[in-house]
Amino acid sequence: MDFGIKVGIPEKQRGACVVVGIFESRKLSDPAKTLDKATDGYITGILRNGDMEGKASTTLLLHNVPNTLCKRVLLVGLGKEKDFGDKAYLDAMRATFNALNKTGAVDATLFLTEISIKDREDDWKISQTVIIAMESIYCFDRHKSKPEENKRLLHKVTLNATDSARLTVGKEAIQQGLAIAHGMNLAKDLGNLAPNICTPTYLADQAKEIAKTHKLKISVLEQKDMEKLGMGALLAVARGSRQPAKLIVVEYQGHKKTEKPVVLVGKGVTFDTGGISLKPSPDMDEMKYDMSGAASVLGTLTAITEMKLAINVVAIIPATENMPDGNATKPGDVVTSMSGQTIEILNTDAEGRLILCDALTYAERYKPEMVIDIATLTGACVIALGNVATGLISNDDKLAQELLRAGQQSADRAWQLPLWDDYQDLLKSNFADIANIGGRTAGTITAACFLSRFTKEYRWAHLDIAGTAWKSGKEKGSTGRPVPLLTQFLITRAREMN
Ligand code: BES
Ligand code: MN
Ligand code: ZN
Repeated sequence: MDFGIKVGIPEKQRGACVVVGIFESRKLSDPAKTLDKATDGYITGILRNGDMEGKASTTLLLHNVPNTLCKRVLLVGLGKEKDFGDKAYLDAMRATFNALNKTGAVDATLFLTEISIKDREDDWKISQTVIIAMESIYCFDRHKSKPEENKRLLHKVTLNATDSARLTVGKEAIQQGLAIAHGMNLAKDLGNLAPNICTPTYLADQAKEIAKTHKLKISVLEQKDMEKLGMGALLAVARGSRQPAKLIVVEYQGHKKTEKPVVLVGKGVTFDTGGISLKPSPDMDEMKYDMSGAASVLGTLTAITEMKLAINVVAIIPATENMPDGNATKPGDVVTSMSGQTIEILNTDAEGRLILCDALTYAERYKPEMVIDIATLTGACVIALGNVATGLISNDDKLAQELLRAGQQSADRAWQLPLWDDYQDLLKSNFADIANIGGRTAGTITAACFLSRFTKEYRWAHLDIAGTAWKSGKEKGSTGRPVPLLTQFLITRAREMN
């Protein structure tokens, strides 16, 4: 899909479709007014006939509107003008592209990004539009014997700017939106791939490919390397699997070597059966998404390379399966982590924290500015926040605020939970330094408390994406989150550092 931005007026566009917005009830947005005037009240006439109220997420397609040069006009409902905020804008954009993709239009010119929203600038509206357009054409058919018949024709989207002074900002916003969308597509593909294909070895190969195309430094640690490092917790999870575990490290250097890196650690469990603490069968297939943290780290890496962001980033991905087997870790087993702390594994299904804790200790050697881990860590987070917000827990309030802001800015929001000492007691073990589960209550927090025992050397934040990384039900699939949040966080940091 190609994107462009120019200054123009609706009735002078020659393309396949012009899109203008209508507020409820039948109130024309400014570009719609211009069009209405040029067409001698054609639009108001249609509205008066009762064909459209302007309700949110509704659309009406018109053909051969007199006095216009385009083939079609798409009216998009914006809802009540006084309620027109972030959500209404994003809903209107989704409705726009759903409708456009059903038509035969090969191109479209949108007069929507100029409608003002409280607290949002052009760049936000434009990059969000690009991301939504790209989402609307995303299709995963790698496992179909014949590619799905693609009836979508739309391949050029032109946005409108109210004056030429806004074109530079607009073009930058398009580039940024595209970089994020490409990163999301990669994360989605990896998440959607079948778990017999997307193994730890496959993830490592993908990382190698990314590193090769973008000339990044990469190293993949094998199990024998992890043994030497004393990664007893990570290896305890890998024991039950026939697939060898990998620890993937990719380094992106966009800034002076002396600048400390941001380290991103992504949970890469390519399939989580629960191990000996076996999960129930219904929906177990969804545990192929348990590598979404890893996928979002790789997606973010491609987004920042595409933007040539002036920042240093290290991606660390512990990758393994969690399987039951004669050789698998049992409840009650005690292992020694790389940090030297011993762990009593009371539940083998709490495996994410076990692979992350060794990766977090390993992160110390990069002398990080900060470390952010991203993980589909707890079912409890899905219960608490649903699929709207990512769970955020941090040992540094300033870092937490920066991430919350990045989430707001990118429409990929997180919500903070406390990391109070009071919760740490729940992880007491009678037999080792720490237990790997904390009981039935506060599951998302106790999981983070576990990780916090391994992150004392640096500023650290944890993103629990169990609810946000994928959708269940009819639209089952990976969402590509939190690539927008992470990329926005790095964009802001790079801007402030330089
Ligand atoms: N990968 C799961 C978390 C998960 C559950 C993600 C449901 C998405 C949907 C994780 O490894 C896990 O099994 N966590 C356990 C922890 C428990 C045993 C303390 C959970 O949440 O049930
Ligand atoms: Mn598990
Ligand atoms: Zn898991």
